Amino acid sequence: MLKNLILSIETSCDETALALVEVFGTASNPQFRVKKSCISSQIAIHRPFGGVVPNLAKREHLKNLPVLFQHIVPQPKKLKLTTIAVTVGPGLEPALWTGIEFAKQIRAEHFPDVPLVGVNHLEGHLLSFLLSPQYRTRGMRALFPAVGLIASGGHTTLLSVQSLTRWKKLGETRDDAVGECFDKTARLLSLPYPGGPEIEKLARSGNPLAVPFPRPMLYDNSPNGKFNFSFSGLKTAVLYHLRDNPNAHHADVAASFQESAIDVLTTKTMHAASETNARSVLLSGGVAANQRLRTSFAVVCKKHGVAFAPTPIRYNTDNAVMIAVAVWVGLRRKKRYPLTANGCLEI
Ligand code: KG4
Ligand code: ZN
Repeated sequence: MLKNLILSIETSCDETALALVEVFGTASNPQFRVKKSCISSQIAIHRPFGGVVPNLAKREHLKNLPVLFQHIVPQPKKLKLTTIAVTVGPGLEPALWTGIEFAKQIRAEHFPDVPLVGVNHLEGHLLSFLLSPQYRTRGMRALFPAVGLIASGGHTTLLSVQSLTRWKKLGETRDDAVGECFDKTARLLSLPYPGGPEIEKLARSGNPLAVPFPRPMLYDNSPNGKFNFSFSGLKTAVLYHLRDNPNAHHADVAASFQESAIDVLTTKTMHAASETNARSVLLSGGVAANQRLRTSFAVVCKKHGVAFAPTPIRYNTDNAVMIAVAVWVGLRRKKRYPLTANGCLEI
């Protein structure tokens, strides 16, 4: 029986997040108990700029980190930590450095004997399905091999996942990430940042079949195209539609845009699942908080006879709990990342 107590820190973008997570169970069937999790969102600060401003993010992280630490660990001397985990990339480097430096500082001050380990943010997203009770009931073996889709503000990445510790990237976006596309489209519709949840809300009262927006790269079966994505053309199609139809019903535009994005994500993922004989689809990243996307995946997975293992809704957008999950798996993979911010770190 393994038992670990992990303190994790996430500052890759515009959320300052800390968590205290207990891990028990076996290496092939770990269980994560979230003892504490705090997220300080900077949305209100970046909203007037329509996106994240790196230096403002850095300033806010510096301000928030000690406050969250005090909240999560009021009595550091009493805590029997086994690992400190901190995101080292990918993300905004000035923001990543604040987390890394803070982790070094608290380790030196309070936990000099506890290892400090760097974590890949994308592995956090990919592995956050482990926070769902669903995989426990099905058993881990029933899920692999799997296909993983990370759909976030910075990434749209498809992976073939052989086991909890082995995976390979199949494809990714060639331009905008799908979350970025939601954010940019929301701006065209005069909706505030971040655009994903706003579009989802507005789309509920719209007709998803009203505007036949393109499905970029959907039918590209070339070796270089079949598992890659492209979302910048979809945003441009919305721009032209709004320019040519000044009286367009915005809810219909939002619903049709969302449908197009969902269609591309689900179709390509299921294509990858059938080519790799996957037994399940692992879905994560901020866009995976979208209820219509989750429902669509549940439907297509059922149709293909494949299990669906989405990350629980609250752990799709950036958080520190997923960083604790990734460090635990990372230690089993014996994969080490240097404690240096790397904005372009690959999964
Ligand atoms: O994973 P995440 O928190 O940060 C990155 O690692 O990028 O993802 C943030 C992205 C934003 O683009 C946001 O608009 C999108 O996730 N998002 C959504 C929803 N909630 C967040 N997109 C569509 N529907 C949602 N409900
Ligand atoms: Zn993220």
